[in-house]
Amino acid sequence: MIVGIIGTGNMGSSLAECLTGRNVEVALFNRTRSKAEELGRRLGARVYDSPSELVENVEAAIAFVRDDQALRTVLFSIASKSGKIAGKVFINASTVTPSTSLEAMEILGLKGIDYVEAPVFGSTSEARECRLISMVSTKEYLLEKATNVLKLYSERIHYIGEPPKAMVVKLALNNLALALPAVLAESIMLLTSWDIELDVLRRVSQNTWIEPVLNRYWDRALGDSRPRFTVDNAGKDYSYVASALKYKGLPSFLSDAVSSMYHLAGRNGLGDRDYPQIVKYYREIAGRSQSSAG
Ligand SMILES: NC(=O)c1ccc[n+]([C@@H]2O[C@H](COP(=O)([O-])OP(=O)(O)OC[C@H]3O[C@@H](n4cnc5c(N)ncnc54)[C@H](OP(=O)(O)O)[C@@H]3O)[C@@H](O)[C@H]2O)c1
Repeated sequence: MIVGIIGTGNMGSSLAECLTGRNVEVALFNRTRSKAEELGRRLGARVYDSPSELVENVEAAIAFVRDDQALRTVLFSIASKSGKIAGKVFINASTVTPSTSLEAMEILGLKGIDYVEAPVFGSTSEARECRLISMVSTKEYLLEKATNVLKLYSERIHYIGEPPKAMVVKLALNNLALALPAVLAESIMLLTSWDIELDVLRRVSQNTWIEPVLNRYWDRALGDSRPRFTVDNAGKDYSYVASALKYKGLPSFLSDAVSSMYHLAGRNGLGDRDYPQIVKYYREIAGRSQSSAG
């Protein structure tokens, strides 16, 4: 089977390593071609000029692109194609809004392409080691066809009904998972502004349930960790949680606040950094306010 990867960012490039490690033939497309070429040279994978050309030449394509806008660009490229693309499988592993996922199913459906919504839980190391957890929504009759591809890189596969339910579950999970660094950033801002050593927080929380939470994020937040998931992507995911709630006429107090925190850090130069590093930004603000007050 030839599997195409659309988007060779942190996740797409890690997935390419997983698949080639399993002797699957891989084809690549990336908006910035040079990044796909470098990866393609290293892994021996062919690089295509457009998503549509890639889809034409593979049995299944997996999209790992940033957001709604990126996925739409990919869809428009495929929609403009009149070649042999009916019957291909298109797996969307990107985190997008539920409404954009439905739009994808509709647009690709018109081309006879089988749409599988399959966002993932897990990050770059899990992708590289083929240990992702895939949440899957698709038409039931496509499930077996989809599973043949998903099992190449997923440790667990959860079928969650028809689109966009898997995307909603993914947003609900990220709403839980990505809040902690934002909460930690505010706690550290509080300590810094009151001139309290950060280690006091760790000392006091020793042997309590908070200790493993702090341990999980401390070094990634305050050291120089390599990006697994970026600040910009965390801000994007929270905007999508908020918009999915608003779409149903519900309040989105927390997701609005957390998305603003990540977006502000992103606008101040941390966009491509590992997401727990927003802590550094809020610590700096607290340090500045403290020195101007002094
Ligand atoms: N990293 C994680 O831990 C993780 C975990 C689960 C899910 N996800 C989701 O997976 C997706 C990819 O994540 P990532 O971490 O790999 O992100 P990333 O490193 O930021 O890569 C983003 C990819 O999207 C492409 N892209 C961005 N804007 C585009 C546009 N307008 N048109 C076409 N392509 C565009 C980029 O191409 P260029 O190289 O040209 O910029 C790049 O290939 C996101 O939806 C993210 O939320 C990530």
